[in-house]
Amino acid sequence: MAKMFCGLDFGTTNSSVALAGEEGVRILELDPVNDNPASLPSLLYMSREGEHIVGRAAANAFIDRNVDREVALEQVDLGIAIDGYVGSEPDKDESYRPPEFDSGRREAVRAHAMVEVNSPGRLFQSLKTAMRYRSHKGTEVFGQQYQIEELTAFILREIKHKVDQAVDENIDTAVFGRPVRFSTDPEEDAVAERRLRTAAGLAGFKNVVFFYEPVAACVEYAVTTDRTQRLMVVDIGGGTCDVCVMEFGGGAETATRLAHSKVLGVAGVTVAGDAIDREIIRAKLFPSFGSRSRYGPSQLPVPQYLFRTIADWQNLYKLNTQETLNWLVAMEMSSTEPTAIRALRCLIQRNYGYPVVREVEQAKKTLSFEQQARIVIEKEAIHIAADLERAEFAHIIEHLAEDMLGSVKEAETQAQINLGDVDYVLTTGGTSLIPALRHMLEDRYGAERLLERDTFTSVATGLAIVSRYV
Ligand SMILES: Nc1ncnc2c1ncn2[C@@H]1O[C@H](COP(=O)(O)OP(=O)(O)OP(=O)(O)O)[C@@H](O)[C@H]1O
Ligand SMILES: [Mg+2]
Repeated sequence: MAKMFCGLDFGTTNSSVALAGEEGVRILELDPVNDNPASLPSLLYMSREGEHIVGRAAANAFIDRNVDREVALEQVDLGIAIDGYVGSEPDKDESYRPPEFDSGRREAVRAHAMVEVNSPGRLFQSLKTAMRYRSHKGTEVFGQQYQIEELTAFILREIKHKVDQAVDENIDTAVFGRPVRFSTDPEEDAVAERRLRTAAGLAGFKNVVFFYEPVAACVEYAVTTDRTQRLMVVDIGGGTCDVCVMEFGGGAETATRLAHSKVLGVAGVTVAGDAIDREIIRAKLFPSFGSRSRYGPSQLPVPQYLFRTIADWQNLYKLNTQETLNWLVAMEMSSTEPTAIRALRCLIQRNYGYPVVREVEQAKKTLSFEQQARIVIEKEAIHIAADLERAEFAHIIEHLAEDMLGSVKEAETQAQINLGDVDYVLTTGGTSLIPALRHMLEDRYGAERLLERDTFTSVATGLAIVSRYV
């Protein structure tokens, strides 16, 4: 078989792969059980028995096996004294953070870990986001320590397997996408790229070249025309919003066209779909779980860290301790909103965090096509039916939209162009389907200059083209 070139887009939410060869570019089918088989949800489920399930099947396994059941946790003393940490109590999911700041708050503590007594498995989501945290020293899964690179490699290995199968040979060279900024902190950014490279290596990709995701999406479109053009790409995914401005010289041949192209500016922020989901949860669901209630003789407000944990459902299980549950039972009795506090306890105890986030995400997606959506969560003590209209949704995410617009403006400034100098603004990524964000771009560039490219595969296609020609 003729040589094939591989482009791999490991996304915060979805991953996809394209192969470029003599006959052009093709997108691989990565996940036959996903609604869109061309993209593999970047999810990993690890069972107690050592099984690793990725993609849509990972979410299904978690819902089948973990949700609707009580997860009992026990606190065990690890028998180590740690000198100086800052912030929350260390647990098995985080490293014992070295005191990088606030050195006055050093103290010696005994390390405790939460041990799941009977959980059948763990689900990991948005691993790409976690890559940037320098202090992340791995996570313990059923007694074994895993680094984030290893967790990511489970997903990449599955992808590589599909690639090898498709071409019937070992493809160990690939162009990987990367966001313009994994983090606004350059050190964190470097750490994240290094980790992704290590993960790729563990999965069997020996030669990896990184390429900016929005630049790849720009190439995907640019090679379909022969005109001299100045193009902007706005790629808003699950974890990041990435922007680039590029210039292409005329020419019909892909190689010539790429040789006469130039990146004029790039920018990006770590604000996208996941952050939007959290905002909806905060605005529409927190009150149903008692965020505004008060309790006890002094009518104290309910501690807000409980709610931060709900928004970040992957850590919800950490609240599932007898101590917290007893406290919630007591709180319920003296609360101004006992039903809401009972719902909160049910959410924690029965592991409903992930289904709740999925429901919210679904409502968000509905709002891309309908004027109104309803978030309905009916589970034991949880009875939520919250209506969300487009206008209210737009208001909830206004500050996030501002951040995204900030990176669009930054790319323009870097490219030293005026608004009128762009021929087309190409949009891609799931979050770019949100009407409020489209309107934001339409207001700036005019609807006639917006061009929607394939939401989930334009980056991978561009990466494969780059892999072949550059
Ligand atoms: N129809 C829709 N309307 C609004 N948001 C959507 C829609 N479809 C998907 N999304 C959101 O888009 C995000 C996923 O988009 P995408 O697959 O482009 O991201 P990604 O490539 O995995 O992430 P990143 O590029 O940031 O690493 C999710 O947050 C998802 O909820
Ligand atoms: Mg993406």
